[in-house]
Amino acid sequence: MDEDQGFRTVWGGVTGGRPGSRIPDYCMGRVSDVNSKEWIIQECDAVFHPSVVQRDDFNSLFRKIDAFGEFIAAYDSQILGFIVFYANDQRDGGAYITLLAVKTAYQGRHIGQRLLNECKAFSRRRGMKLLKLEVNRDNAQAILFYERNGFHFTKRYTDSGVYMEMELL
Ligand SMILES: CC(C)(COP(=O)(O)OP(=O)(O)OC[C@H]1O[C@@H](n2cnc3c(N)ncnc32)[C@H](O)[C@@H]1OP(=O)(O)O)[C@@H](O)C(=O)NCCC(=O)NCCS
Repeated sequence: MDEDQGFRTVWGGVTGGRPGSRIPDYCMGRVSDVNSKEWIIQECDAVFHPSVVQRDDFNSLFRKIDAFGEFIAAYDSQILGFIVFYANDQRDGGAYITLLAVKTAYQGRHIGQRLLNECKAFSRRRGMKLLKLEVNRDNAQAILFYERNGFHFTKRYTDSGVYMEMELL
């Protein structure tokens, strides 16, 4: 993990979730090593339906993520989850979340929210005004999560997906 310029954030335990499910300290760190990125995506792939790594276009998606994406992982002695987003479109000031995952055993303890908050803060620092994403229309869990975290639907949609966005004030 890169721990440059004070980016690393240490979280002192997790509140919420099941009684007794508190996780000791865990960290958020920016990932820059290509092998680590690929390994983390594979580690968390079980939460994606359908699988990300088995997508026909995974290799080109991964090249794009590695070249242009920002990659932040939550970890203690193991990987808990990660977020990948683009915050480089200076023309329309729109950042875009491409992947977000929390391992099943650690869901519901606000790790996803903290990953999202890191993404928002990073995107604001880059001058982004809007945060956008596409989510599978059947993924009710993720849609509720995004609504709870300030996203609303746009008019844009595809056969399988809906688009959501939020202002980065
Ligand atoms: C979506 C995902 C990242 C959420 O991460 P998480 O760590 O479990 O979510 P959090 O604990 O941070 O949830 C924050 C808030 O979102 C809402 N939320 C999260 N999961 C929810 C669910 N299953 N049902 C309803 N609301 C939910 C809750 O309001 C929660 O706050 P609260 O517990 O104080 O009420 C995680 O469930 C996941 O990895 N899903 C599979 C992969 C995926 O669908 N990714 C997104 C599409 S790329």
